Amino acid sequence: MSSPVLEIVDLHKRFGALEVLKGINLTMHQGDVVSLIGSSGSGKTTLLRCVNLLEEYEDGVVAVAGEQIGYTKKNGKRVRLSEREIARQRAMTGMAFQHFNLFPHMTAMHNVMLGLIKTRRMKKDEAHSVAEKWLERVGMLARRDHYPGQLSGGQQQRVAIARAIAMNPQLMLFDEVTSALDPELVNEVLSVVRDLAKDGMTMLLVTHEMQFAHDVSSKVIFMDDGRIGEEGPPDQLFRQPKSERLAAFLKSSKFS
Ligand SMILES: Nc1ncnc2c1ncn2[C@@H]1O[C@H](COP(=O)(O)OP(=O)(O)O)[C@@H](O)[C@H]1O
Ligand SMILES: [Mg+2]
Repeated sequence: MSSPVLEIVDLHKRFGALEVLKGINLTMHQGDVVSLIGSSGSGKTTLLRCVNLLEEYEDGVVAVAGEQIGYTKKNGKRVRLSEREIARQRAMTGMAFQHFNLFPHMTAMHNVMLGLIKTRRMKKDEAHSVAEKWLERVGMLARRDHYPGQLSGGQQQRVAIARAIAMNPQLMLFDEVTSALDPELVNEVLSVVRDLAKDGMTMLLVTHEMQFAHDVSSKVIFMDDGRIGEEGPPDQLFRQPKSERLAAFLKSSKFS
């Protein structure tokens, strides 16, 4: 089998005295869709942010496509890579957040083209056609000339997802991409993510949408106070929780 897209080994992360990740292990292969569920504060966002080094981590290894992210070993010592190397590694992953952060003064089209030109060094024409393809895929081609302020939250989020995916990342990270949306806009965004999953995109996502996590995931992880409390196939996790804590969490999130 080819090397895993993502391999996390015994990852520890502290904020000062507070240890928020207490030894996380996770291996993902091409096409895997892993959902992180769990209470607020359990470490889900921090885990995602360690994968593209938006957070530093103290112990353990995070590797994307066989390359350790952020650090290397020199004379047996762990040293941080150069900013240039880290920027290159960050481009291996794409991320979509709760707050989509599109550039307000740029059209949907230009928001998607920007990274292709600046980071992927594409010519304008090529960037335009790649952006067109992805805007079409998220159902936003007709609004390509709209500015973010002229789009609904769900539409903005779909543009933000297109912007991330257009960069052709090996791995997509999604952190509660529907949490800031009005309820009637949630499904249009989830269906975009569902389609990407069907196409074999490798994805690690945090979500409060339990039915969605159930339907889309190859594996679900219940994060519990900085640890993996339980993990397994969606049916097992949602239908036969082993721990009281997962059962209680599912009850509070009204999964039925
Ligand atoms: N920048 C930070 N500085 C200090 N503590 C933080 C920081 N970011 C997150 N935390 C703490 O880390 C823990 C995990 O947070 P987070 O990863 O955001 O959890 P989740 O996404 O599951 O809600 C929480 O206790 C949170 O308060
Ligand atoms: Mg979070």
